[in-house]
Amino acid sequence: MDFKCALADALYEGIRGAYGECALAPEELMQALEVPPDTAMGDYAFPCFKLSKALRKSPVAIAESLTETVKADFLGKTEAVKGYLNFFVDKAMYARQVVEGALAAGDGYGADNSGAGKTCVLDYSSINIAKRFHIGHLSTTMIGNSLSRLYRFFGWNTVSVNHLGDWGTQFGKMIAAYKRWGDRETVMRGGVDEMVKLYVRFNAEAKENPALDDEGRAWFKAIEDGNPEALEIFNWFKSVTLKDAEKVYELLGVQFDSYAGESFYNDKMQPIIDELEAKGLLKEDQGAKIVDLEPYGMPPALILRSDGATLYITRDLAAAKYRKDTYHFDKSLYVVAYQQDLHFKQLFKVLELMGYDWYKQCEHVNFGMVSFEGQTLSTREGRIVYLEDLLNTSIQKAREIMEEKSPDLDNKDEVARQVGIGAVVFFILYNNRRKDIDFWWDRALNFDGETGPYVMYTHARCCSVLRKAGACDAQPDFAALTDGGAQDVVRLIEQFPGVLKAAFDKSEPSMITRFSVDLAQAYNRFYYESKILDEDLSVRAARLTLTRAASQVIRQALYLIGLEAPERM
Ligand code: ARG
Repeated sequence: MDFKCALADALYEGIRGAYGECALAPEELMQALEVPPDTAMGDYAFPCFKLSKALRKSPVAIAESLTETVKADFLGKTEAVKGYLNFFVDKAMYARQVVEGALAAGDGYGADNSGAGKTCVLDYSSINIAKRFHIGHLSTTMIGNSLSRLYRFFGWNTVSVNHLGDWGTQFGKMIAAYKRWGDRETVMRGGVDEMVKLYVRFNAEAKENPALDDEGRAWFKAIEDGNPEALEIFNWFKSVTLKDAEKVYELLGVQFDSYAGESFYNDKMQPIIDELEAKGLLKEDQGAKIVDLEPYGMPPALILRSDGATLYITRDLAAAKYRKDTYHFDKSLYVVAYQQDLHFKQLFKVLELMGYDWYKQCEHVNFGMVSFEGQTLSTREGRIVYLEDLLNTSIQKAREIMEEKSPDLDNKDEVARQVGIGAVVFFILYNNRRKDIDFWWDRALNFDGETGPYVMYTHARCCSVLRKAGACDAQPDFAALTDGGAQDVVRLIEQFPGVLKAAFDKSEPSMITRFSVDLAQAYNRFYYESKILDEDLSVRAARLTLTRAASQVIRQALYLIGLEAPERM
């Protein structure tokens, strides 16, 4: 990025040198720079027709004249070909500029402050109370975590919200079941599993005995009315669920600023309903209140049921408004599965109809489903994979591999945790987020595949090379980095800032995940092709410098998708 920027500056000066003026600003020139399909045509090309109107000259003539005036120490030569100005970069200078630039910027390489003073609210993970954290919630948790890191990287202030699913008639049923068959000790011991059992039993028995449903409804009303006993049990369920979830969050290294869930909005919905009414948006429909969305090709948004109960979208309307009023966000992201596409379309449309211009700042970051070794997951049929079990299994498997590969490693437990978690998360963040994912153990944990362990291993390899080399004070000779293998690594390092920007713009962490694989593969090719600890100390110094830059960028890429980079493995 910086490099392209320097080239754009040189081009700008060259154009002014030849014509006394330049119709395009340096940033526009940078945008216009292309990468030719074939390196024989140069490393960059500028299509001169972009200037022909302003200069009233043919692209061919412009290209010709610019070969004389565009100069920079990092340019090997420039060539005019069919109206294009082709730049051949001096490879040694290029390597030097990129590698030294990256190292000087350190962990801030690719960062900028474009988000300074701006706030982004990110709604992710958003688990449901009295249900176990299953693999389906991993995508939202890790995409959201990655995006919040990325936003902070670009200078934004972020607010991470876990919009807990802690409202609904099922909680009345659970209390009813608990009062009938449960006891505190068993639930304490069994945690969420025990609550799920109670709920399943309730539903089974209610089929035979419909009176149970009335009991459930009565308890739900009791929660709504603030009955102390009902609230006490309900809040206790909540804290047991959160304690379980906390273990998973800790393994994953994920944190939240707020756990304001659905129940938080209990007293914040009436003003919204009044407002909808006052703005003439509410319609009666068989006793229920709806916002008609027919003109926009959507089913109506159901705001109040005929029994007066509020709905998921009613809470989301209150939540959206609350977040705007409280955090004054410039962006508000909802990282939620694509099954809820319609819900968010409706939500944003209702906000728009209410006259809230900031609906444009809201975005649904959706993602696909996860299946497990070819099987879809279904709570009802008992095919669920619990995240905590999955992560622990992965750590265990990683540990076995470590035991075999590097038996002398000191901190095997720590590394097994980093690699085990890394394998799972990397797999989840590897594909475009809208694609469905089928999780397979052997693919996630393959140390030679396009996986987390592979990338982490490459990082550890860089660290090991640097450790072995020790201090090397020689001046690097960047001509040692002009062959294909080294240049590929340099080029990828140069592209990193652009990849991060694109990942940010598209809310697509997978671009970073894939990039990390590309860089790891390129580095490994370089590692096998070139003797890093060369006898010529200036050559050695150059190769070590490249190694240091590669390891820094891999570590940073992993950090931005939520992972750690062990130094030894
Ligand atoms: N709890 C919901 C679920 O698990 C996701 C909530 C998403 N956030 C929101 N504001 N609607 O499906």
